[in-house]
Amino acid sequence: MRYNRHRDIGFNNEEILNKLVFTGQKVGDLMQSAMRKKEAEKWFGVVPPDLSVIARSRGADWLYTYLRAFYRDDSTVTGWNNLVFDRAAMPHVLYKLQGEQRLVVKTSDKGEQKSLLLDKQGEMNKAEFDKFVGDLVNYLVYLGEPHANTRKELGIIVMAFLLGMLILSYALKREYWKDIH
Ligand code: HEM
Repeated sequence: MRYNRHRDIGFNNEEILNKLVFTGQKVGDLMQSAMRKKEAEKWFGVVPPDLSVIARSRGADWLYTYLRAFYRDDSTVTGWNNLVFDRAAMPHVLYKLQGEQRLVVKTSDKGEQKSLLLDKQGEMNKAEFDKFVGDLVNYLVYLGEPHANTRKELGIIVMAFLLGMLILSYALKREYWKDIH
């Protein structure tokens, strides 16, 4: 996606340059990660995914849960683990906002039940953090298909046109056949 596409969601060129472009690119350039793939692989063991299409492959619900489900785990390289993505190589980049969660495992006759408990409060409370992640996921969904709204509006116009044509064709058919039957 190009930076200037953000005009769709209410930014002007100046805001895009000031708030989104950190690498000296132009407003019409493609958004690209500044992290080199080879180095990222050395640091994390895997190359971080392309987030511009992640909402399409994982879906909004999964992303919303994933970004809220990091917990402290001393056995991993980053010190973090994730309840829906076991041993994810991604560090909890939002921990300052969310705080630190701990995994709680309860065993009953129904099996193991895992839940997360907030040990250390972050800069946001739970409701604020949930809303923040909701906004972030909405943005990722938008990024996955920036034309989605235009596509839906166009779809309605096309369906209305087809319906109009159906009514006209049916009226025409009746007109043609009325003297024969
Ligand atoms: C708010 C910003 C970020 C979001 C929304 C985000 C989102 C995600 C998501 C959804 C995945 C799972 C991909 C999958 O389906 O396989 C993922 C994986 C990953 N992310 Fe992030 N990420 C963010 C920031 C970062 C940063 C800053 C780093 C590096 C410092 C990073 C490193 C990774 C790595 C290495 C993986 C691969 C995990 C694995 O396959 O084990 N992410 N990220």
